[in-house]
Amino acid sequence: MEAVGDENSCDHTKARSVGCLGIGDSTLYQGFWIFAEALENIKDFQQNFNALDTDLLLASHPKSGTVWLKALAFAIVNRTRYPLLSSSNHHPLLTVSPHDLVPFLDLKHVYPASSLLDFTKSGSHDHHYSSCRLMATHIPYTSPPDSVTNSAINCKIVYICRNPQDTFISMWQFFNKMRTLPESNNKSTPSLSKMKKSCPLSLEDAFELFCNGVSDYGPYWDHVLGYWKESLERPCKVLFLKYEDLKKEPEPQLKKLAEFLGYSISVEEESVGVIKEIINLCSFQHLKNLDVNKHGKIWNNSLANKDIFRKGEVGDWKNYLTPVMVERLDRLMEEKLHESGLSY
Ligand code: A3P
Repeated sequence: MEAVGDENSCDHTKARSVGCLGIGDSTLYQGFWIFAEALENIKDFQQNFNALDTDLLLASHPKSGTVWLKALAFAIVNRTRYPLLSSSNHHPLLTVSPHDLVPFLDLKHVYPASSLLDFTKSGSHDHHYSSCRLMATHIPYTSPPDSVTNSAINCKIVYICRNPQDTFISMWQFFNKMRTLPESNNKSTPSLSKMKKSCPLSLEDAFELFCNGVSDYGPYWDHVLGYWKESLERPCKVLFLKYEDLKKEPEPQLKKLAEFLGYSISVEEESVGVIKEIINLCSFQHLKNLDVNKHGKIWNNSLANKDIFRKGEVGDWKNYLTPVMVERLDRLMEEKLHESGLSY
């Protein structure tokens, strides 16, 4: 493994390469780690994107349930356009990946729909599927363009947070898959041919990097705390959801999400089962078994959609982490989070 630098000593205007829990070469940029290929897209987003009052932005640390939140939000805001209860259901979620229905603003090179975004044109994201600009980002709260965080613009942000143990295991599994993609898959994507030289990370090495805050889009705690604090200070601007709460009590969480997005679910809708329909449509088992998510490809056909849907459980970390690792992560989270009031 390459040496890991001290992030605190880094000049945040520059980026440099080191070993990182990520998909390949990563750099430290504005206080967070990012795989090198994403840097230009992030800068493009920061420099050229202009938020509108009506924009809805879904934010997350990688492997925290982004695709689930995308599906839920898409189904909620487009439910007049695409009714959930019709017998001949042609809902886009049945045939299109949630990642292509809700584009990433900072990962234009990964997902086909995201690559179509052109920030230099006004109203650049006039997506033919969606009734409003519903978009996503992984970048920390400190780094979106000013128009997103600016109090004069009313665009809203929903953040989904997942416990650090499951997030870590999910990242480790997913990134190792990316790091070891077969060479033949990489032909069309120069950035991936670079990545293939990365070796899979052992659990121990990955854990060390994660605990040192050296993981793509990390440190994890900085990412989570940025959105958490803003959700406390500006609850109308940022809604903070937890993956585990969505799993445990999906109905109230879904109602809260819909209300925050400005698409409240009426009593009449609730009485005819709209909430349950959305939950079922977006459930892990349902999405995972759709053809598009079983056989579709992303990242210039290099990565299979099915790799986005692994287990979708709370507590899978128990199958991997040793008691010593669990204790270390618990202590670390206590140290990093306790003053914030956010518990994990
Ligand atoms: P696991 O690797 O633990 O299974 P992201 O979308 O941010 O990349 O997060 C991926 C994680 O969310 C994966 O976790 C994936 O299986 C899980 N996931 C995907 N779709 C889901 C859904 N509809 N419901 C719950 N979890 C889901």
